[in-house]
Amino acid sequence: MITGSEPFNNPGSDFLWWRDGIIYQIYPRSFADTNSDGVGDLNGITEKLDHIATLGVDAIWISPINPSPMYDFGYDVSDYESIDPVFGNLMDFDRLIAEAHRRRIRVVMDLVLNHTSHLHPWFIASRSNRDDPKRDWYIWNDVGPSGRLPNNWQSTFGGRAWEFDPRTGQVYYHQFLKEQPDLNWRNPQVRERIYQVLRFWLNRGVDGFRLDVVMSYFKDSQFRNNPVKLFGLYAFDRQIHKYDLDQPEVISVLQDFREVLDEYPERMAVGEVIDLDMALRYVGRDKLHLAFNFDFLRQPWNAASFHRSILRYIRRLPSDAQPCFVLGNHDVNRFPSRFGAGIHSDNRTKVAATLLLTLPGTPFIYYGEEIGMQNTPIPRADIQDPPGWRFWPFYKGRDPARTPMQWTADKNSGFTTGIPWLRLNKDFQIRNVSTQNANPESILNYYKKMISLRRITPSLRQGSYQPVTGKPSQVLAYLRQYSSENCLVILNFKNRNINFLIPQPPADTVWDLRLSSRRAEPVRSSGGEFTLHPLEACIFSAIQR
Ligand code: GLC
Ligand code: CA
Repeated sequence: MITGSEPFNNPGSDFLWWRDGIIYQIYPRSFADTNSDGVGDLNGITEKLDHIATLGVDAIWISPINPSPMYDFGYDVSDYESIDPVFGNLMDFDRLIAEAHRRRIRVVMDLVLNHTSHLHPWFIASRSNRDDPKRDWYIWNDVGPSGRLPNNWQSTFGGRAWEFDPRTGQVYYHQFLKEQPDLNWRNPQVRERIYQVLRFWLNRGVDGFRLDVVMSYFKDSQFRNNPVKLFGLYAFDRQIHKYDLDQPEVISVLQDFREVLDEYPERMAVGEVIDLDMALRYVGRDKLHLAFNFDFLRQPWNAASFHRSILRYIRRLPSDAQPCFVLGNHDVNRFPSRFGAGIHSDNRTKVAATLLLTLPGTPFIYYGEEIGMQNTPIPRADIQDPPGWRFWPFYKGRDPARTPMQWTADKNSGFTTGIPWLRLNKDFQIRNVSTQNANPESILNYYKKMISLRRITPSLRQGSYQPVTGKPSQVLAYLRQYSSENCLVILNFKNRNINFLIPQPPADTVWDLRLSSRRAEPVRSSGGEFTLHPLEACIFSAIQR
């Protein structure tokens, strides 16, 4: 039986949630705490579903909630078929799914299948004895004379990727922490067991999966050395990852995943990959539904850079693949801080949000983006994230983008009545959901208006994308067209007025301003000169004259 799918039956509608909808990422530790232990939990998410529903998004992706010793805050799983007690239990999870589905919100689970925790029973068995049946579930290798490691592979989180285990006298491979040993995906037993894990959650009503570092599952079977590069801040960046990532075998696993998912109606998998090339190759009718395109995370605040980034992606994307854009997640600096601009930051945030939500493809919103949450500086003594300890002061880790959600102006912003696991941003008294709900000009209300406009405007979801040339380094403008419906998006990246030449609308129509981030008065245009306010985002649609 497939639970929870009934409320979605919507005959006649061609709205497919993962293609036409918006997905909202929740970092569960930091969303809402209901038992005062200072850490967010599943009941907290359930309590806040109305906020998510009124925002207007179609799905939530929850970062890992499986049992974990939390060396990497849930990205080190010790049991794939249960819930970590800090977040709740399976009953809480079932209730979350039911309550989400009642509001037509889909639930996407984060599956970390490249590696487990070193405390997963599989690894405990694997390391116990060279003859253990689970030995080959992980990647073990001999060391050479005087302890020489099998090859030059590096851990993303610093140091060599091989860890010596004295009990059995071999090394095991870990792409991340030594507490995160990599599974051996070449072993068919591992694959079969993981496919059972997928079914376990699908049968519970989960609508999709976010697949952590999906390009890492397979490594070279001969363990050849990676070619080295001269430049790069960290040892990991000074290699070309020819042999430790993106091996051809991964595609067949994506196909297997797809077969499992297709046994159920409207299920989805989105893969985390590290570059655009993989984002293009891993998606399609018989592979992943979506793969994150992280190119926006590397763009400076410049219309021309975004213009090029969009084209280099959508022009190469296969016709059976759905695009996917993100501005942030739990691994990178929050975009309002990244784009900077001091007191003008909130205006830039609205421009960036308009871009994200009016491009072809599935947008992902990271919790707090809807109120323009900024990075929170974390003093060294409070750092929680392991790469933050390791690389300080060159890299301060990912905590600044993971601080508690800002709900109210009250103590701890309404996140917890206990002591928060990570400090709040000091701007929470002015930047929070309740204050912004009450302010019609707020970022939150802007997101809501834009999301509802997108929902009623097919061209903004499924329309073609056609750049409008104008002032390429200052203004990014494009047409979206779907059958006879047309939209025009104009984004002023500069903090000053700019005269922009609006293209002519289709015959017998006029451009009607549906939403602006800087003005309330109506605008109609039949093409021609138009003065954009500083950092203004405009969405026009063509209406009958
Ligand atoms: C992914 C996750 C990141 C995690 C890593 C190891 O990149 O997004 O948070 O640390 O994988 O699982
Ligand atoms: Ca809690």
